[in-house]
Amino acid sequence: MLKISMKLGLYIFVSIFLLETVSMLYLHNHVINSRIDQELDSLKSRGNSHRDVLELTYSEATLEHIALMESHTDTDVVITNKAGDIIVSSENVNPGMKKILHKVLPQVPRKGLIVQSSWKDERYIATVTSFTSEHSKEGYVYMFKKTREVELLISQLNKHFLFATVLLLLFMLIIIYFLSKALTRPLIGMKEATTKLSEGNFSVTVPVRSHDELGELAQSIQSLANELNYLKKERNEFLASISHELRTPLTYIKGYADIARRKDLDEFERSSYVAIIHDESQRLNRLLDELFYMAKMDLPTFTVSKETVRLTTLLQSIHEKVLPAFTNKRMQLHLECTEDLLMNLDPARFEQIMLNLLDNALKYSNENTVTTIKANRAPGTISISIIDQGMGIPDEDIPHIFDRLYRVEKSRARDTGGFGLGLSIVKQLVEIQGGTISVTSSLDQGTCFTIIFKGDN
Ligand SMILES: Nc1ncnc2c1ncn2[C@@H]1O[C@H](COP(=O)(O)OP(=O)(O)OP(=O)(O)O)[C@@H](O)[C@H]1O
Ligand SMILES: [Mg+2]
Repeated sequence: MLKISMKLGLYIFVSIFLLETVSMLYLHNHVINSRIDQELDSLKSRGNSHRDVLELTYSEATLEHIALMESHTDTDVVITNKAGDIIVSSENVNPGMKKILHKVLPQVPRKGLIVQSSWKDERYIATVTSFTSEHSKEGYVYMFKKTREVELLISQLNKHFLFATVLLLLFMLIIIYFLSKALTRPLIGMKEATTKLSEGNFSVTVPVRSHDELGELAQSIQSLANELNYLKKERNEFLASISHELRTPLTYIKGYADIARRKDLDEFERSSYVAIIHDESQRLNRLLDELFYMAKMDLPTFTVSKETVRLTTLLQSIHEKVLPAFTNKRMQLHLECTEDLLMNLDPARFEQIMLNLLDNALKYSNENTVTTIKANRAPGTISISIIDQGMGIPDEDIPHIFDRLYRVEKSRARDTGGFGLGLSIVKQLVEIQGGTISVTSSLDQGTCFTIIFKGDN
């Protein structure tokens, strides 16, 4: 498998290499062409200056002088008359020169004319200038430069180009190496982290090195790992608590069943033990029901079917249903709902919420106290409160009471028979219908649970 850093490096290398080749070729051509143009210009201007001298003082001596001067340079001169016969030359005229001299010339402008510019195929590049002296002597000054020298110059230039290209490629390779490493390092870190996650090791740390998309991805993986870690811890704690909750009633059942089986018991004792066994199995049944319901709520198939209901009617029927239990405990239950409020909610789930909260009010209040159900409309919202005058909840427990299996005092709850599941179910049921639930409480004075649904509910 090609590593991502290699792939990335390869892509960058190929793109930069292509870009560099094209720009180098362009630059190379441009430099060479301008170099040749420079050479031709300098040939022309040398020819022009010879012409100026000839036009001023045309004589044998001047001609010799020009030829002598050029014989000491890397350029050559051939001076011909109008008919093309050679008058003087700085070097023996060879076939390469002759080929140029035999060319038919067009009108030669004053600033000179290039007669041979192709440096690759010919032995010389050359220019020509025409002159007319005071004594009507007319002719041409041909200037030559050997293409071998130009080639030498260009091969020198090519060497520089090659050196620059190799240096650039090397530099590029080093940069690409570090760049691709730097870019892929966070990815590799994330890959390792997700591999660990898939193996069930959730305590991973993914460093967030940047504030770009890669940084965001690292942050998401870290949040996912934290969440999974939290869920794992919660699940373990939950399982431990559940097994404890299951074991307690089972221990009672087994213990009392053993005693009840004894032959020497009288009927009264036996029936009291059987009653305990019955109570405990009911408690076990209730726990399993709540657990089953909680599991059902976590499934995606768990939905609420909302309908428009008359809140007053719904609350009245709930009030009627639970009133006997309150009266039994010598408690009062009031319902304050004056307005005829219409709401869009799932009546069965709503009843479940209310029954749970009222069950708590009943369980955690003493005799001769009043519990009130209040429904109010505020701008945009409808709130329902259950206010009791019970034992209240300590401040430090309030943030946890909606957690699964959380009970304020384990012993207190054991007497009254709670599991600490009711409020977590209530919270989920409220939120699934788009509402919120909050609580205020003071010890020995009472507790108030408030559910708020948006007005358009
Ligand atoms: N109205 C209340 N007054 C005082 N304490 C309360 C009240 N409602 C809840 N609590 C405290 O919050 C804890 C959690 O309540 P929750 O309804 O979740 O569990 P539970 O009533 O103990 O058991 P379950 O509802 O599962 O039978 C309770 O154990 C109790 O200590
Ligand atoms: Mg409860």
